[in-house]
Parts: sequence; C-alpha cells; structure tokens
Amino acid sequence: MKQLLLYVLVTCAVLLSTGGSRGQQLPAPGPAKKPGWWQETVVYQLYPRSFQDSNGDGIGDLRGIMARLDYLQSLGVGTIWLNPIYASPNDDNGYDISDYRQIMPEFGTMQDFEALLRGMHERGLKLVMDLVVNHSSEEHEWFKQSRSSRQSPYRNYYYWWPAEKGTPPARYSTFDVSRNAWQYDSLTNAYYLHYFSVKQPDLNWNNPALRQEVYSLMRFWLDKGIDGFRMDAFQFVAKDPTFPPMPGLNETNYINAYNHGPRLHDYLQEMNREVLSKYNIMTVAEGAGRNPTEAMLFVDPARRELNMTYHFEAVGVGNTPERYQLTDLKRVFTRWDSAFAQKGWQSIYLGSHDQPRMVSKFGDDRPAFRAASAKLLNTFLLTMRGTPYCYNGDELGMTNSRFASIADYRDVAALNGYQLVKAQGGSLPAYLQSLQRFSRDNSRTPFQWDASTNAGFTTGTPWINVNPNYTPVNRAAQEKQPDSVLNHFRQAQRLRQQHRVLVHGQYQLLDAANPNIYAYTRTLGPARVLVVLNFSASPQSWGVPAGLAPSGQPWLNNYPTLAAGPFLALQPWQAVVLPLH
Ligand code: GLC
Ligand code: CA
Repeated sequence: MKQLLLYVLVTCAVLLSTGGSRGQQLPAPGPAKKPGWWQETVVYQLYPRSFQDSNGDGIGDLRGIMARLDYLQSLGVGTIWLNPIYASPNDDNGYDISDYRQIMPEFGTMQDFEALLRGMHERGLKLVMDLVVNHSSEEHEWFKQSRSSRQSPYRNYYYWWPAEKGTPPARYSTFDVSRNAWQYDSLTNAYYLHYFSVKQPDLNWNNPALRQEVYSLMRFWLDKGIDGFRMDAFQFVAKDPTFPPMPGLNETNYINAYNHGPRLHDYLQEMNREVLSKYNIMTVAEGAGRNPTEAMLFVDPARRELNMTYHFEAVGVGNTPERYQLTDLKRVFTRWDSAFAQKGWQSIYLGSHDQPRMVSKFGDDRPAFRAASAKLLNTFLLTMRGTPYCYNGDELGMTNSRFASIADYRDVAALNGYQLVKAQGGSLPAYLQSLQRFSRDNSRTPFQWDASTNAGFTTGTPWINVNPNYTPVNRAAQEKQPDSVLNHFRQAQRLRQQHRVLVHGQYQLLDAANPNIYAYTRTLGPARVLVVLNFSASPQSWGVPAGLAPSGQPWLNNYPTLAAGPFLALQPWQAVVLPLH
C-alpha cells in the first residue's frame, strides 16, 4: 500500500517534501510599506475545462465563463487565475502547449478571450494566466523543428543527448509510464528530456534565444492587459546542460533533487528586468525550492524576482495513508509564516487542480460534517496571512468524486500510473483505492451549478463524470440558504476586505500541541482577532488563554451560536473569528 500511495502521490506531482527545522517567532513587522495589490486580493482558481460549457460539446469554454461573470463577481474575490487556455493537444489538460499565442479551439477564439478579459475588468476582477514554460507540447512548432535535424536552429530549444554518447545519466519523469525522463528519438538518434509526460519535452533555458521567445510571449499577453502569471513548474526550469550523473537519485527523491537548478535566479532576475518590472502585475511561481530559505530567494523584494511562490509542504501533510495530524498542519503553516514575517510574501491554499478536494482531504465530507468543515477550511484560508487561493467549487464544499473504475479517469497521471502498476505486477484494486483519495481528477469534475442534468454544466456529455452528489451540493441550492457554505465564503471574504488585520496582521499560533484545535491571533497595531477552529467531528472545550478577552459577538461563526466564557464550547468543526479587546 505504501508503494502504491507513492505512485499516486508522485504522479500527482505533490510529493515535494521539504526539510528544515521549526521556525522561530519573529517580532512584529515594522511600519508597513505600501502593499502590492496582489497582497490584498483573494485569488479564485478557475479550471476552464470544468467550469461551464456553452455549446453542448461537454467541455467548459470561455463563453461559458463569460456567462458566469456575475457569479464570480458575487463571490467578492479580486483575481481569477485561469488554468491554461492555449492551443494544446491536451495530453495533460492544457499543460502541454502547442502554440502560446493561440486559444485552444475547444475553449473559443481570441475574440472570446478579449471579451472575457474586458468583462472581468468591467467587474473589477483581475485576470492571471498560467505560464507553462518548463516544457512545451511535442506538437509545438519549435519541437517539430528541433526534432527534425541536429542542425536545426531550434535544436537547442530543447535538451538532446546524442545516442553515440551512450545512455544518458538517469533522470526521472513524473508522468512517464516507465518513469524514464529520457525518450529516444530515432530520427536524429538522440534522447530528449521530459520531466513530465513524453509529450511534454523540456525547454532549454540555458539558451538565450529560448528565453527571449518566452519573454516575447509574456509581453504578448501582458500587452493585451492581463494582470499576471502563475508560473507552472518553475522551479524545474534551470538545469545543468551537461546532465552529470546524480548518485543516489531515485523515484522518491528526484523532485527535490531537481528543485533548484543552477542559474534559476539569474533567469528570474533577467525576466524581471526585461518584462515583469514594466507592468503592474502579480507573479506567483509553482514550487518554492526545498524550504522557506530557498523560497525567500524568489520573493525577497530586494532581489527583484517574483511576488509569491507556493510550496507543497502543507498539502503534503494530508498525503498520508492514515488521517493527517493537525499538529503537523499547524507546524508547517506556522513555520512558513514566520519565515516571511519580516519580508516577502506567500500563498495560502489547501486545494487546486493538482490536489484532491480540500474538504475530503482536510475536512470531513460525510453529509453530517461536509458543510461545517468546508466552512471551517474557508475560514482558515481567509484569515491567514498571505494571499488566499480558493479553488473553484471549494466555495460550495464540493467533494472528491471517488470514481470506481479506471475508465472514469482522464488524468495522464492516473492513467500512466495505472499502466506502471500493471507492468510491475502491483495490486490494481489498491491503486484504484488510492486514486479515490488522491487523484487529481477528484477536483476536476464539472462545477455543480444546479440540480438539473449534469449539474447545469453541459447539455451534452461531460468530458469527465459529474460528481453524483450534485443534487444536494450545488450553487442554486446554496444561493437560497443564508447559512450555506457559499454564503459563508462570501461573508468570510467580505470580512477580510473590511479588516486589514486579517490581511497584514502578525500571526501567532496558540496551543500548538492541541491535536484538535487550531487557534491563532492576528494583530495589527491596536486591532487584534482570535481565530479558533475545531478540526474534529466531536465537540471540544477550549480555554481562552489569559489576557485574550473576546469582545462582543463573533465576526464570523459557522454555527448560529457560540457558548462562550472562559472556555469556548465548540461544536464539531466549529470555526469562529472573535475580535479581542
Ligand atoms: C504543474 C501543474 C500540473 C501539470 C504539471 C506539468 O504541476 O499544476 O497540473 O500537470 O505542472 O505541467
Ligand atoms: Ca464547450
């Protein structure tokens, strides 16, 4: 089972364990400099393929999103991050790009895109695009040229290892059916490198011509008026082109080994000089190195690189076969917060298109607790320091789909992982079981709009099955309930907009050893709040530490009442935000 779990996790590209020790509490930050807009926004991650289909082909599209702009605005979020919408053969759902300047025909046209961007800006929403430049699709013109001949001017846009030098030193691939990151190509008798699937050859950042191509395509989109980039797999872009042997490299440690290649920060500083510094935008890198110290190198303002990164250590806490320990989650969030207490900035998230549903992983998705625990997790995301990222559907408390058969899965990671287990004679039922918990497809099912066929996502056949719980769990039903997960999300998000202490206030963990309660204060000048979260399905009594006196009614509570006194009597998954004297 352990081995199987590993397959799932590695194929989900989430096993980015980080070492290091506990952070120390740092003193409160000094007088705030003018914050960037990207610190005060809330990001809503929108997975276009599954959001809203407008033409009945079963695939979400840009016009579908356009039809839902008023909904997005009603959430109160400030920024929409769209997963890739560029031309792609969809080996990895758009993360394999064949033309960086075209819209994927299934999603619409450039006119649709421009109308969508206008529609967002008219509603005060910013738009952040995915930038996928660690690799392209094998169908990109650059790769076709590169592959065609060793003399091609595009040869060095990718990494090739001539076969006469022998087999290249071992490198592992996350999605490959045999885990080998080198693919032999007989046309020019050479191997090319692919850290992800065989259809995602890695781009050669050592080549200045390639870097200029990337900067140029970034300007192309920025000049259309977009508001930033989420930079995919960015920690992997830098490589030593001589590919020295890496002794000790294996299937479990390769991600950390690739994490922080030579010249990574030279590239980022060059990109900042040439492109980013010319626009008022937001930049966030996927991957943050191996620890907070490395993460700081990306975001220290003095270094002029990026605004934020996001790390995998917190979501990694939930990747254990048994239920995770809350104390681990608290330790990780606290350690990362303290590392950025004085400078730099980070992202706060629990779900994404690469993770299972947060309520299934960190909450409790049984009907009795689903709503309360989803509200608790949203309370957490929206009361931490850092920019919160809400993955679409989490504002409704959508859950894992838990498909029964491999035929229901669409993700290249799940499908190739299945082939690998099969080839190695592993247990396929056990693999399927772990997919039900960890597969990325759990969070890629269609958005649950209403109780009509296919949850109102499409009039056709959806590209991936709708979660059968869409009749109780959907947006239309939740609009009607004042205390729904959706309306609680809106309330929490309004609270964050109203109170700067929730954005910029110093974070202080309380009662670190408590296995059920996550409690912390946020402090900004005289403003002080206490957040108390019962991460358990049983009632808990929690003693308010001396010196912290709640004043008046809770600002936010996912139950109608709170039994207060020197002890708070918390209901299962109760989450409260209390102003302090
Ligand atoms: C990132 C993306 C993931 C994708 C991978 C390869 O991890 O978030 O969805 O599969 O990069 O592009
Ligand atoms: Ca469509």
